Formats: sequence, C-alpha cells, structure tokens
Amino acid sequence: MHGPSLAPAFAFLRACRGEPIAQTPIWIMRQAGRYLPEYRALRERHSFLELCRIPELCAEVTAQPIVRFDFDAAILFQDILIPLMGMGVPIEFDPAPRLGFSIQGRGDLDRLRWEGSATATPHIRPVIHAVRERLQGRVPLIGFAGAPFTLASYLVDAASRDLARTRSFLARDPEAFARLLDLLADATIDYLRAQIGAGVDAVMLFDTQAGWLSPSEFSRTAASSAERVLRGLPRGTPAIYFALAPSVGHLEALRSVHADVHGLDYRVSLAQARAILGNAQAVQGNLDPAVLVGPGEGIVASAEAVLRENGGRPGFIFNLGHGIFPDTPVENVQLLVDTVKRYRSSAGISG
Ligand code: CP3
Repeated sequence: MHGPSLAPAFAFLRACRGEPIAQTPIWIMRQAGRYLPEYRALRERHSFLELCRIPELCAEVTAQPIVRFDFDAAILFQDILIPLMGMGVPIEFDPAPRLGFSIQGRGDLDRLRWEGSATATPHIRPVIHAVRERLQGRVPLIGFAGAPFTLASYLVDAASRDLARTRSFLARDPEAFARLLDLLADATIDYLRAQIGAGVDAVMLFDTQAGWLSPSEFSRTAASSAERVLRGLPRGTPAIYFALAPSVGHLEALRSVHADVHGLDYRVSLAQARAILGNAQAVQGNLDPAVLVGPGEGIVASAEAVLRENGGRPGFIFNLGHGIFPDTPVENVQLLVDTVKRYRSSAGISG
C-alpha cells in the first residue's frame, strides 16, 4: 500500500497530466451503484442521502468497487444535485431526483443562495476524510460536481427530455440565464475547493445535459461557464470536464475549455477527438455503456477497439462514454477490467 504522499505516482494521475505510463488506467462512471449487489444490500437498509452524508456509509460505498475490481481510481459517492440542496432547493431521490421548486425566470434567481461549503454542504469534509481513511492510499480519489449548465437544466426543467424550458429561458433572457450560470459556477468553485482542501486527488465536472445545446450555444454557455469553474480552481489538482455532447461541433467548442482531461461522449470517436483537440490533450472514455449488457465477445472486441484507437498514446484513461447501466452483470465489468489490464501487458504500451 502507498502512503498519500506517493499519490502523484499513480497511473491515473500521471495519465491526467499526459505523462507516459506503462499501463492504461481504468475506472468507470457510476462504478459505485445499483449494478453492485453489495450496494443494493446496503441500500435496503439506508436511504440514498444517508449513503452520501454519513461518513462511514459513504466510505463503504465509495470503496465497494475498489474492493471488488482492480480499478485505478475511486470516485467519491455523492450526487451532482446535493449542493443545490445547500442552495435552498428541497430535493428527494426516488431514485430519480424530484426538486421542490423550479427556476423559471429572473424573478426566481434570488431563491438560490450559497453561504459557503461549510454551511451548505457541511458533510463534505467528514465524508472525504472517512473515504481517504478507508482507501488507505490504495487508489487516488476523484471528487466531483455538476457543471453549471447541467445544474441549471435541473433547476429549470428537471432535466426533462430536450430541455425545452431551459433552452427557451436562454433564448428569452440570456442575461438572466448568464447570471444563473455565474451563481452556480461560483458556488461550484467553492464546493470543489472544499473537496480539494479535504483531500481529493482530482476533480471532475459533469456536464451531462450540455449536448442538448447547439455547438455554438454550447460554446457560449455550457463550455464558458465550465471554464469559469476550472479557472477558479487551484492548479496542481487535475480537473476532468465531461460534456455528454455528441458531435464534432461540440468537440471543437471543447478547445476553449482548459481541463487537464476531457471526458468523451460514447457517440464521438477517440480519433475525432484527438484530431480536434490534439494529441497533447489527455482524454477519458469512451466505451458505450450498453456494450456491457451484451455478450463477452462483444465486450472484449469493443474494449480492444478503443485501446487500439488510442494507439498507446499517453494521456488516456479508459472509461465508459456515460454511466454504467444499473442492470449490468458484475461479471461483465470484471471482463472489461481484465481486458484492459491484459491489453496493457501484451501490447507493451510505451510512452
Ligand atoms: O459511482 C459514481 O459515479 C459516484 C456517484 C455518482 C452518483 N451520481 C450516484 C447516484 C455520480 C458521479 C453521480 C452523477 C450524477 N447524478 C449525474 C451526472 C452523470 C450522469 O450519469 O449523467 C447526474 C445527471 C445525476 C443526477 C441523478 N442522481 C439522477 C438522474 C439520478 C437518478 C437516476 C438514476 O440514475 O437512477 C440520481 C440518483 C443517483 N445518484 C443514484 C446513484 C447511485 C441512484 C440512487 C439510488 O441508489 O437509489
């Protein structure tokens, strides 16, 4: 086991920095969650919010996929919507989130307030301390937040299909929408700084609703507010920006987001991303999560295709191109991890 001071040597963190490594690191989005029988067992006895807020439970759930699989990073068990509760929005998870009120226009903006992470999300320090204690420095820990546009889409639209209300708000009153994004960005900076202060090794911004915007609107709103968050974070902690955004036009807009790593949507190819972002840009992704509910041969072939497409370049982290489906058989995840680990050794990837 490594001590925390050895953290920079981890393959995951080296890959975030684009440094040459002998092995492709792997972790998967939603790796702690309902596809794991041990998660479902704990969920029978505790609510989702208890798992997020009670240090021992959060540590247990965050560590579950690390205990079972040879993943190269843990992701803090939380939800992107929890800071909104700290801004005064009542939220229930059922398991889909239900928000107590919505933001429909500029008159609603003053319903939101952020009084600092210590007041708004007081659980975050103790849970991170407990998770670190539990992980014993075995793997680095990723903290995260929702990107401002995705948080806004939940506040305005409950993230319903195609975000008609969010996009209408933006078209009707771009100035008020920009204020909403700034307010969310500033709260997110403070929240992520608290996570970094408590000891996470990297942070990730999830922009899973951004792909509903046209590439130019994506660039003006989602990407620029994500960039505002990234600029507000201390240097030295790698930051990953994951926009679930399906087109080459969206990829081009990503060039203005200065994240250490760009997470890739499963609907773009690694080759397209490399061509547009350059080989020096570290990327993460992007196997279609649906592959993992299919037959083993398909899992091996699709994972190897992603690895082959990367061609051994440094600055690559294997992941899915969106979160794992809850009905994924655990043995398929094992097969995926084995495939990525085997490929490392047999292909002799070098920097
Ligand atoms: O393992 C991990 O990745 C860490 C934990 C994590 C959760 N949510 C736990 C969770 C992370 C990183 C998230 C991010 C998140 N949450 C996103 C962005 C990424 C994505 O998948 O699009 C979004 C949009 C949310 C909002 C959210 N939270 C939704 C839409 C839902 C319900 C829908 C669903 O997936 O069932 C949640 C609840 C939630 N968050 C669960 C988990 C494990 C299920 C809760 C339960 O156990 O009942």
